[in-house]
Amino acid sequence: MLDFSFTSPTKYIFGQDAEHSAGSMAADSGMTSVLVVYGGGSAIRSGLLDIVLKSLQNSGIAYIQLGGVQPNPVDTLVRKGIELCRQNSVNGIVAVGGGSVIDTAKAIAAGVPYNGDFWDFWAGKAQIKQALPVGVVLTIPAAGSEGSGNSVITLTPEMRKISLRTDFALRPKWALMNPKYTFTLPPYQTACGIVDMMAHIYERYFSTTPGVEVTDRVAEGVLQTIIEQGAKVMTTPDNYDVRANIMWSGTLAHNGICGTGRKEDWTSHAMEHEISALHPNVAHGAGLAVIMPAWMTFMAQHAPQKGAQMARRVFGVTNTDDTEAALEGIELLRKFYQSIGMPLTLSELGVNESEIPAMVQRLHENKGAIIGGYYQLTAKETTEIYHLAL
Ligand code: NZQ
Ligand code: ZN
Repeated sequence: MLDFSFTSPTKYIFGQDAEHSAGSMAADSGMTSVLVVYGGGSAIRSGLLDIVLKSLQNSGIAYIQLGGVQPNPVDTLVRKGIELCRQNSVNGIVAVGGGSVIDTAKAIAAGVPYNGDFWDFWAGKAQIKQALPVGVVLTIPAAGSEGSGNSVITLTPEMRKISLRTDFALRPKWALMNPKYTFTLPPYQTACGIVDMMAHIYERYFSTTPGVEVTDRVAEGVLQTIIEQGAKVMTTPDNYDVRANIMWSGTLAHNGICGTGRKEDWTSHAMEHEISALHPNVAHGAGLAVIMPAWMTFMAQHAPQKGAQMARRVFGVTNTDDTEAALEGIELLRKFYQSIGMPLTLSELGVNESEIPAMVQRLHENKGAIIGGYYQLTAKETTEIYHLAL
């Protein structure tokens, strides 16, 4: 096990009526005037936005609003949000939505106190020294941004999608999570979230670090829960407890607990980000349903140990040969993805073979000539993995 320092400072208020704590939580974290960020309208339709605004009002918190965040969020709305905050002396951001809304809120929070263009941080030209506090009212369990120090933004018009992790500044101060508000998720978005949270665990699980049994077992337990509850949520979308288990799994998958004491990988995420950068209509989770099994298939041929362990412990595979066991596990994983309505190939996502060279080039420009923590890959191998996903 590697030495580690772990802090998950976000205060989670989980369950019935959690959203009513927005005002008191904002006040507790020193906010007096906030920007409320939300997406394309689901939070308005469910009535959640109204409840949050009333709660802020009741606690004497002034607010302005910025709606219209689109999935796979872009820099332009971040810039607009930064301007709004500066004009209105805002000292906190409240995100009402999912990963795209929360990531936009985090980027605005980092940009407001910075004397330059916020993209400098995502481009690696500057490091975040301070950010406004961010609070979250979560509506979709998926990206895990409510507990992560990451923000993923796409620069236009280049369509360069970059994930930045700055734990101390970008982890939300609080997150309000009422599973009831996830009942309205369309089945496809629910499934995308399931794939994404599983991927957040796999990116940490596939590790060469030995002696991390406790972290492996935590990861396997959460994976098994997601598979079991994920199957149930597709047939009983209004079951509170099922939604609650999925929602909390999404946070546990990405708040760092499944990565303690080990080297992580993150290649599949980087490879997926190149897909949703060029095809903003592709949901991150759908892209991962295609890429992650392709990456695992390559690993089954080159470094099968962890895939074999996952196949045996999570999917009950009994094959004693590591490569064969890993491949059987991938097949079962694909079957699960298919059963919840996820695509399995790049062509189902509308991605053409002719786009692979551009994706590979952009991937290595963004991430370096050699990528991967579990197994190191050059452009030759990442090209091979994209082809496995066709
Ligand atoms: O915009 P609205 O109308 O709210 O609709 C959204 C959106 O269309 C809808 N939705 C959300 N909650 C709903 C709902 N519809 C009905 N009922 C509800 N309760 O769902 C759609 C997708 O929302 P989005 O926020 O894009 O989903 P997600 O949470 O999957 O976020 C995806 C983004 O997060 C990034 C991804 O790359 C992508 O850009 N990620 C962020 C991470 C992080 N910050 O730690 C890590 C992840 O690996 C990921 O890369
Ligand atoms: Zn993800």
